[in-house]
Amino acid sequence: MKKKDAVRTLAVDIGGSGIKMLVLDATGNPQTERSRTETPNPAKPEPIIAAITDLASQQSEFERVSVGFPGVVHHGIIKTAVNLDPDWVGFDLATVLSQRLSGKPVRVANDADIQGLGAVSGHGVELAITLGTGFGSALFVDGKLVPNLEIAHHQFRKGDTYEEQLGRAALEKIGGQRWNRRLEKALASLEHLFNYDRLYIGGGEAKKVTLDLPPNVIIVPNITGLLGGIALWQNSEALGR
Ligand code: BGC
Repeated sequence: MKKKDAVRTLAVDIGGSGIKMLVLDATGNPQTERSRTETPNPAKPEPIIAAITDLASQQSEFERVSVGFPGVVHHGIIKTAVNLDPDWVGFDLATVLSQRLSGKPVRVANDADIQGLGAVSGHGVELAITLGTGFGSALFVDGKLVPNLEIAHHQFRKGDTYEEQLGRAALEKIGGQRWNRRLEKALASLEHLFNYDRLYIGGGEAKKVTLDLPPNVIIVPNITGLLGGIALWQNSEALGR
């Protein structure tokens, strides 16, 4: 058994278009370069687990694993997976992935929750959203997570949900200018709903945001979705559990 301060975490982010990972040291600093592979199609459990174990074998040594999953997750079990495949519903990802990684312990949480854990200051009401294949959201009160906040599939405008209006498919269809105008409306709506102290915007498409943002709205780098993985092993308090 390694000394506690030497324990390394493999942080994995399962996305609708790519699977990413790197190894973090005990304090959450990256130890390796981020690696990435395309999300298999169909995005069913078995090919995704195979892709993770394959990428993991090319990373350096690790003792435990954190996984960000693009859906609702309860105690390692997948409850929704709108942008992957219905076969995920009910799948015990934490147990199965642990078995496939020589029994190393695995913790799984919603991808936006992990992104938020990597971004928040721990003070006041903080909302994190992610812009990628889907529309991720995570809410924190004084650093404590309200797990699995799902704004994505709620009505936003013109009979569409936030994800239908702002997901990658919409961005590709309508282009950056109109997408930014929609985003501006979404931010106004979220501000009125949550009255947050700070909002963080992450995800692969956050780089396409061209709006002038107020000082309490902060763009975070996409790698935050991996760096936040350390929190699953550091403070169960922050996870609201
Ligand atoms: C899912 C969320 C997820 C988001 C970003 C949405 O479709 O419902 O759980 O966080 O996509 O991946």
